[in-house]
Amino acid sequence: MCGIVGYTGSRQAAPILIDGLSKLEYRGYDSAGICVHGEDGLNVVKAKGRLQILSDKTAGGNEVQGVVGIGHTRWATHGAPSDHNSHPHLSASGKIALVHNGIIENEARLREELLAKGITFASETDTEVVASMLGIYYDECGDLIAAIRKTVARLEGSYALGILCVDDPDRIVAVKKNSPLIFGFGQGENYIASDVPAILKHTQTVAYLNDGEMAVFDANSVQFFDGNGNPIVKTREQITWSISAAERGGFEHFMLKEIFEQPKALRDTIGPRLKDGKVVLEGIDLSADYLKGLNKICFVACGSAYYAAGVAKYILEKYCRITTEIMMASEFRYCDPVLDEKTLVIAVSQSGETADTLEAVREAKRRGAKTLGIINVVGSAIAKAADQTIYTCAGPEIAVATTKGYTTQLAVIYLLTMHIAQALGKVDADTYAGWVAALERLPEQVEDLLSQDRIDQIKSFAQRLTRHNNAFYIGRNLDGAVCLEGSLKLKEVAYIHSECYPAGELKHGPLSLIEDGYMVVALATIRELFDKTVANVREVRARGADVLCVTLEELAAEAKKQAQNVIAVPSTDPMIQPSLNIIPMQLLGYYIAVNRGCDVDKPRNLAKSVTVE
Ligand code: M6R
Repeated sequence: MCGIVGYTGSRQAAPILIDGLSKLEYRGYDSAGICVHGEDGLNVVKAKGRLQILSDKTAGGNEVQGVVGIGHTRWATHGAPSDHNSHPHLSASGKIALVHNGIIENEARLREELLAKGITFASETDTEVVASMLGIYYDECGDLIAAIRKTVARLEGSYALGILCVDDPDRIVAVKKNSPLIFGFGQGENYIASDVPAILKHTQTVAYLNDGEMAVFDANSVQFFDGNGNPIVKTREQITWSISAAERGGFEHFMLKEIFEQPKALRDTIGPRLKDGKVVLEGIDLSADYLKGLNKICFVACGSAYYAAGVAKYILEKYCRITTEIMMASEFRYCDPVLDEKTLVIAVSQSGETADTLEAVREAKRRGAKTLGIINVVGSAIAKAADQTIYTCAGPEIAVATTKGYTTQLAVIYLLTMHIAQALGKVDADTYAGWVAALERLPEQVEDLLSQDRIDQIKSFAQRLTRHNNAFYIGRNLDGAVCLEGSLKLKEVAYIHSECYPAGELKHGPLSLIEDGYMVVALATIRELFDKTVANVREVRARGADVLCVTLEELAAEAKKQAQNVIAVPSTDPMIQPSLNIIPMQLLGYYIAVNRGCDVDKPRNLAKSVTVE
């Protein structure tokens, strides 16, 4: 869950590295560091805290001279955030410097082995163990590439490594397994990075390294090798989105920008898949025969992606009459899941990198299930691991709290449900046409929900609710599924303790907590269940809760009789309603976080890509 970057060319490396790292901070932001080949050898500068501290320490990199370098932004796994645990790490001899994204699972054993050889360590990190081992192998054979091969052969876990050697001042070596790494082709300069935004300013031509592959490069040339050391030719891919997609573009935070990007993200995700009033999932093989033979569908995902799967469970069971399970990916591998070749396992992930979800896909395949990914990042590890992938087209999502990632996942889930319902003959023509029309209308309806009037209204509710330190989100059926995501938004960005309960479940225990000072967000957009949820609103209000009810425009007058605050959302087809309901909840979480002075885009303790289990 860290970010790495590397540069070699004729320009000063350090400012380029620091700028690149600024685009990777979403991957980790508790410390940062760079190492540049200077005239006097490897020059390492590190700083605990945000990248800005490193930038200030080096005058934006201008005080570190040299044209070849590597950089790192960290999310601590081994050892607390500190200067000495920050990367790059040096070998004991000081000849090798490396940056690492990933986790070395056999680090303890390797550390003991090296301690027995008399090596001492300056940090508690697994990365320094790798640097020291590489240093020893290099001293033994004097061949950097051979030493790297020997080192990575001993590593268990995940790594993307950027490596410098004092004896080889023009070259950088990069190698990866289970952590992402891209190579960027420039003119008289070359790059590596954990993700495209770090180098997009300089090049749009990249190659994605596969597990085991190595890139050995200087300013003017690159050689790629497979895991056996054979030279290979990598396909050059063109990045089609521009740098502005990865910048804040006038918004105060990425989270707000990404909330506002949802109409476009939805258009891009839905538009190409609706043709002549039908869902077309190009390149996806889910034939009627195959679907008829399924015993169940099982979703695996984490966090918001898991909550999107929660929506899928309701609608697949209701409209396709197919048993649908949802499992947190972190639990999946260890619960001996019941699946076989008649099970379709669907992995949902914005980043495509989440370690738990990736492992769940591998486990599902081992057990014979067919796997399908719903993924945003093209070419990511889960997209590669799954048998088939439907991409969400959200564009780069930078804020740690997902918004457009989640809503585009919902969009794909609707498309999939429509495809399956039709293939299984479970939907009549009118209902299907209603779904298509609703999906076509959706981006515009989301746009309306982002109008200035509505934003002002949510801001004023946020102002009022900011003082509360405890929240409950309640709803029934699909409303309950969406509340889980609303509640997560509040807790992760505003640091408010927030629980989510099916509204009818409240009285079976948690109601005892409700008193003055609690806020309750009640989602009541399902007509048949409206009275019941409003009855629950009455119960919490009677016990002192400050209630915000989110309901349909036509039900708002009725809701106002019970709740102090009401937000009305337009109605659409019930299956698609979750996509409208979540918008005010995202905004509420965002504005309360802003009011509380929280670091909205980089909430404490979190990172965007969770590549550790
Ligand atoms: O990249 P993924 O969709 O696999 O990430 C899964 C979760 O880590 C992610 O949704 C997380 O819960 C977000 N911070 C929620 O906003």
